Amino acid sequence: MFNRNRRLRERKEIRDLVKETVLTSKDFIYPIFVVEGNNIKEEIPSMPGNYHYSLDRLEEIIDKVTSLGIRGIILFGIPSYKDEIGSSAYDDNGIVQKAVRKIKELNKDLWVITDVCMCQYTSHGHCGILKGSRVDNDETLKYIAQIALSHAKAGADMIAPSDMMDGRIQAIRDILDENGFLHVSIMAYSAKYSSAFYGPFREAAHSAPQFGDRKSYQMDPANIREAMREIECDIDEGADIIMVKPALSYLDVIRWARDRYDTPIAAYSVSGEYAMIKAGAKLGFINEKQVAMEMLLSMKRAGADIIITYYALDAAAWLKEEA
Ligand code: PBG
Repeated sequence: MFNRNRRLRERKEIRDLVKETVLTSKDFIYPIFVVEGNNIKEEIPSMPGNYHYSLDRLEEIIDKVTSLGIRGIILFGIPSYKDEIGSSAYDDNGIVQKAVRKIKELNKDLWVITDVCMCQYTSHGHCGILKGSRVDNDETLKYIAQIALSHAKAGADMIAPSDMMDGRIQAIRDILDENGFLHVSIMAYSAKYSSAFYGPFREAAHSAPQFGDRKSYQMDPANIREAMREIECDIDEGADIIMVKPALSYLDVIRWARDRYDTPIAAYSVSGEYAMIKAGAKLGFINEKQVAMEMLLSMKRAGADIIITYYALDAAAWLKEEA
């Protein structure tokens, strides 16, 4: 006697009935890049199908996101001015602050998350304040907190720090609470690895470091126990959601986190993951839709509750076609 496991794969009907993981458009967060200027919708060369938008062109993309049933977006700003201390990052009239206000006017219900970091805003491209050639942790915390506060004042629903300084979640929670933003939540880039998969993003966001690399603050791809320590610290300091980033090469990290913590988990399927599928499909080597959907499904199966993906719009549209 042997088990006939194939019985439950006989037809689509039974396969659907025993399916363990289901993707929906409600799982996705879509990243949007905003720039200063007028009438700009410029495709990002390394991320086809994704664009830089000026504020006056945001309506089109916000309507699209909404009509596809996507619940949230995460905003990345590309400022027109950079300096040593990233001062345009915490300017109440900075690009992200203006974009948040504009998006809330267009659709007050859309869940608006802001990426909090300094690398797009500093002339040296590092994620914090430099002392010599080192990124000074505690000095950076003061700035990160100010950026978070300015985003909350603009109306952001959720703050997502991606800088990887120690103590940033506590610093942000404290400043938000002191200023009455008790309801504004924090999604922590907790296990953020120092990854080559960020390449296309850095080109898109003009945020590559001008010297050295990010290895003294972002995590070593070799480590998973360290990721659990990072996550635990962030939960202790007040993170509402924890994140693993990148996603595809770090599904084991998502699974470990799922098994250990009850906090909701976001997986960030980063720019390089998107670009690889786009490039492979363009060459005719893989089927874009099937590969993209299988990849997103694997993140949810690994234990992610939320998937941040440049495929959000396509995936939501594909799911709609199949429904
Ligand atoms: C900013 C930031 C980065 C990403 C998100 N926030 C780049 C980096 O850390 O160098 C990467 C996102 C992606 O590759 O899609 N610190």
